[in-house]
Amino acid sequence: MDNSNLVLRTKLIDRMFHWSMVSCFTLVALSGLSWFFPSLNWLGYVLGPPQLARVLHPFLGIAVFGLLMCMFVRFVHHNLFVRTDLTWFKHIVDVLLNKHGQKLQIGKYNAGQKILFWGIMSLISLLFVSGLMIWRAYFAALFPIPVLRLALLAHSVAGLALILLVIGHIYMGIWVRGSIGGMISGYVSRAWTRQHHDRWYEEEVAPTKPLPSKRHG
Ligand code: HEM
Repeated sequence: MDNSNLVLRTKLIDRMFHWSMVSCFTLVALSGLSWFFPSLNWLGYVLGPPQLARVLHPFLGIAVFGLLMCMFVRFVHHNLFVRTDLTWFKHIVDVLLNKHGQKLQIGKYNAGQKILFWGIMSLISLLFVSGLMIWRAYFAALFPIPVLRLALLAHSVAGLALILLVIGHIYMGIWVRGSIGGMISGYVSRAWTRQHHDRWYEEEVAPTKPLPSKRHG
């Protein structure tokens, strides 16, 4: 493949944060679901026998939180809302219909991805705090029962909401062809960049990666 056509979208360190977080998240989410819905009890075995799963779930949850905070630091500057995000919202129907007629002035991440980013970061923070509060081995004894009930409710609702958000995130990744490949190899094509993130292409990609000059003769 012609390398001049490839654009580095996600650095190795960021891909490592993302995929190691996804591995831990999968185990934490499946074990959490197994306790929430009795019919899904069998899912808990992803973390071994029930007693072991109860011990591992909070530690893996801390790993998810820690890795997402690393991602927060690395990605936040691309996810701050800017005025041109309004153009994306105004053309949401075209976006959903995959029509790419007009310039939408999309930066490195589009407005929908930014909403998802802040949703993920808020929910994982709520899960972290409520999870620590209901952690029997260390902190639960410090709180009165009504507070623990509230924390348990917040933990369950935030957990389910995050799982739904992640399902949407995966769906979008599959829908926008080439983006999962970009999160695996780090690279996307120049055409992909221009089609899905036109402002990022014009401001950052094109100036640093000029088109190869045509050969003469
Ligand atoms: C199999 C599961 C997953 C797949 C296939 C997937 C796919 C992707 C892809 C393709 C991107 C890059 C999008 C782009 O370059 O435009 C991305 C970014 C990201 N993913 Fe995932 N992901 C998965 C699971 C998760 C989970 C479980 C979380 C968090 C709970 C998560 C959080 C993020 C975040 C925070 C970003 C950065 C987006 C931004 O800065 O706006 N992902 N993911």
